Amino acid sequence: MNERSRIHAEGVYVLKIGGSVLTEKDKVRKARTSAITRISKEIALALALAHGRGAGTGAGAKAGTTTRKKLILVHGAGSYGHPQAKAYLASRDAKDALITHESAKELNRIVTSSLMEFGVKIMPIHPLNGVVFRGGEPKYKIKEQIEVALETGIVPVLHGDVIMDEKEGFRILSGDQLVVYVAKEFKASRVGVGTDVDGVLGDEGEVIRKITPVDVDKMSLKGSEHVDVTGGMKEKVHLLAKLASENNIPSVLFNASKESNVYKFLTDDENLFGTVISA
Ligand SMILES: Nc1ncnc2c1ncn2[C@@H]1O[C@H](COP(=O)(O)OP(=O)(O)OP(=O)(O)O)[C@@H](O)[C@H]1O
Ligand SMILES: [Mg+2]
Repeated sequence: MNERSRIHAEGVYVLKIGGSVLTEKDKVRKARTSAITRISKEIALALALAHGRGAGTGAGAKAGTTTRKKLILVHGAGSYGHPQAKAYLASRDAKDALITHESAKELNRIVTSSLMEFGVKIMPIHPLNGVVFRGGEPKYKIKEQIEVALETGIVPVLHGDVIMDEKEGFRILSGDQLVVYVAKEFKASRVGVGTDVDGVLGDEGEVIRKITPVDVDKMSLKGSEHVDVTGGMKEKVHLLAKLASENNIPSVLFNASKESNVYKFLTDDENLFGTVISA
């Protein structure tokens, strides 16, 4: 089996790190450098374990780890995207759309530079240049780029961005929407969405351990405590519930602000605490 067929047959890991983790969302263009460094290190370590130790046979490599598993990384825009997008949505001025794009790209550069410092081979993908909103939905023209990256051992890094829209000129495409797209397209075997909270929280602040698509309609979810133009937690849960019901792809929402959780997600640690959304 060639590498391309293998990727499609075995599925990939899809991980989103939220803007709530990477940035201070109540400020403007403020990155959380220490979180970015820590997460880059955890990703590098998990990938080194997966690729360096062979098929679960080396010391420290457990059966069922990310062995040879491919990773697609998505990140949110946080304070590098939401306040700027809010200004664009108010003005509908192309200049503000471009400011949003440049700013989201700046965060992407910070994240990818950090990953590279830890030896992760990456390829940034800026959705503005490869996704267009037509006929009421985003049309993705980034499949082959992602495929080639995966085939050659490179981690594609996508991010929430502005995209062209046939009616509006520009519109916002969230990191959460990108997660759903790549998870479906590459038949993800594991999908993780990290934010700054332990998972989906109930009325008493407790973590809801499992959500099915049927539950979602009955839940009264809020958006975000922060500036978030893409629907915050509520829209996230709806998108992931749809991914579970329509494509039978489960996902886990976990706290990526807490040390080791990204590593745990990537290495299949059963101790990863969070909310599972599955059919
Ligand atoms: N029921 C809930 N459970 C958990 N979090 C909730 C809930 N309702 C609202 N939230 C808010 O959702 C936030 C996470 O969503 P948010 O969209 O702000 O982050 P993100 O997706 O990581 O950021 P970005 O959109 O920049 O990637 C939490 O910080 C919390 O304030
Ligand atoms: Mg969000």
